[in-house]
Amino acid sequence: MKLIVTGAAGFIGSCFVRMMLSEGMAAKAVVVDSLTYAGNLENLTPVAGHPGFTFEHANICDEARMLALFEAERPDAVVHFAAESHVDRSIHSPAPVIQTNFVGTFSLLEAARRAGVPRFVHISTDEVYGSIPEPFDADENYPVRASSPYSASKAGSDLLALSYFTTYKMNVSVTRASNNYGPYQFPEKLIPLMISNALEDKPLPVYGDGRQVRDWLFVEDHCRAIYTVLQNGRPGEVYNIGGNCSLPNLDVIHRILKATGKPESLITWVQDRPGHDRRYALTNEKLSRETGWAPRMDFDYGLAMTVDWYKNNQGWVERVKSGEYHKFYDLNYANRAT
Ligand code: NAD
Ligand code: DAU
Repeated sequence: MKLIVTGAAGFIGSCFVRMMLSEGMAAKAVVVDSLTYAGNLENLTPVAGHPGFTFEHANICDEARMLALFEAERPDAVVHFAAESHVDRSIHSPAPVIQTNFVGTFSLLEAARRAGVPRFVHISTDEVYGSIPEPFDADENYPVRASSPYSASKAGSDLLALSYFTTYKMNVSVTRASNNYGPYQFPEKLIPLMISNALEDKPLPVYGDGRQVRDWLFVEDHCRAIYTVLQNGRPGEVYNIGGNCSLPNLDVIHRILKATGKPESLITWVQDRPGHDRRYALTNEKLSRETGWAPRMDFDYGLAMTVDWYKNNQGWVERVKSGEYHKFYDLNYANRAT
């Protein structure tokens, strides 16, 4: 199988490509990535020498280039990860989020339609359902109620992708996953930020009361689910992917402090995120019933592995934290402590 994978210099896409090539699930993977602050070719080093690996430094919004690439490569499928993926950045600076997540997805769908690409998997998020009141879990028919520019851009791109099935009969499936964690995650999201700050004895900034709930999914479990959907997902369908691991943020932070052997005094209460969703919760029942997929990773074990990875890869952390990362955090977080 020959794949074009967008955004695979980032966290989840790079895991997917490493898995596809190293486990022989794909013979060829062409990675398309514009290398934003979140894209890092180091994440693909383990497969850089694989004969089926190719890298295309390109912006997904460049529809003419995407069309030329799809026509030249004739892939069996496009798996679309590329996005501006951080909610806080989308609040601070929504324009690139709308451009990449919505317009970029449109450009890829259009190029894929015109090139006759046989399969398209659009990677999305449980954030499109917004905050879910207890005791409900969102299934795929739950209303879309996005809260942030990020989640609205993903909800819009999901609807666009599904419209290409309805209107053009394109073979499109959409996946909606919960919060991923694992190695190679840029240290701006909750788990890698808390781990890298704890390892450096820096404050751990908790938004609001810290009782917001997220479902945690190990990144390799997510990538196996995407491969399952790629192979067996039905066209025009949405598939939720969750880790069956619902935890309040403070609970996650306490486990990180325990795993790193650091004191609770590092916890720092800061202003809440505007429009902060209280609770995400989803059910995997559809994907499990149709394909037999289920998440395998135990959270404490996965967290311990992740902590070890960050301990052993502090050079990686330093390199990705240089440049724009610092500018962003200086602008946004300097005055947040309450
Ligand atoms: P990431 O921020 O780590 O990586 C995004 C990648 O996309 C980077 O390599 C970046 O360079 C690339 N990119 C950004 N804009 C681009 C453009 N215009 N053209 C080409 N490449 C571009 O993101 P991630 O956490 O790996 O998320 C991947 C996908 O999974 C996203 O679509 C995200 O919405 C979705 N998702 C993420 C999570 C999570 O917890 N991280 C959960 C559910 C769904
Ligand atoms: O649910 C899936 C989504 O998970 C993905 O679509 C997004 O790409 C991904 O970024 C993630 O979004 P969240 O907003 O849930 O993740 P984040 O890691 O930014 O925050 C998780 C929770 O932790 C949230 O309630 C906010 C809180 N938080 C986050 C950070 C970065 C803090 O309390 N302090 C922090 O410093």
